[in-house]
Amino acid sequence: VKTPLICPSILASDFAKLGQEVAAIEAAGADWVHVDVMDGHFVPNLTIGPAVVKALRPHSTLPFDVHLMVAPVDPWLEAYREAGADILSVHPESGPHLHRTLGTIRGLGARAGIVFNPATPLSILEEVVDLVDLVLIMSVNPGFGGQKFIDSALTKIERARAILDRAGSPAHLQVDGGVVAANAGACVSAGADALVAGSSVFKGGADAYADNIKALKAAA
Ligand code: DX5
Ligand code: ZN
Repeated sequence: VKTPLICPSILASDFAKLGQEVAAIEAAGADWVHVDVMDGHFVPNLTIGPAVVKALRPHSTLPFDVHLMVAPVDPWLEAYREAGADILSVHPESGPHLHRTLGTIRGLGARAGIVFNPATPLSILEEVVDLVDLVLIMSVNPGFGGQKFIDSALTKIERARAILDRAGSPAHLQVDGGVVAANAGACVSAGADALVAGSSVFKGGADAYADNIKALKAAA
């Protein structure tokens, strides 16, 4: 089993010093920076706009993995790409034409991700598997950090892995929500190759980030 990519969600970081926080997780061994964008409409929370992503860009050389929890999402794609997003992940529910949205993202030169909420059927993936570079399985209902991992996400990861393998897709398979060292191994065994982790990376202050990341990699 390969070591998974660790994608700390900066939602759990100290917003008063975001630039330092993204630099600190890079120094601590993170692979991607996971940015949770929430609009207070698609999900009941409000977070990070394109101006903040742009301001953070010079503070990190890591790929910015931007998880868009925004509806409608289409009007925002270009702004986040211009701000420095490398990956733009969208929920099928965030617009009427997912196929077009994924094409738009690739057309902007970004990698395109599709995100499945706990109740969103994976069958959608069969229709767009050639258009995605990343599949994100939510293991919580999106909106907040620090929630408990929903165990049924594990079989969903297995099923997504099977669809990707059958299609010969090189897309990453990522899991997001409640990921801790105690379930990281199960996520990777189920087929995930990228772990989003907020609270479990940012707990204990900057001195603990490297150990927290190492613990997730070791558990996997
Ligand atoms: C939830 C977000 C997650 C969340 C992860 O809506 O998409 O990225 O911040 O945080 P933890 O790891 O604390 O569940
Ligand atoms: Zn997220």
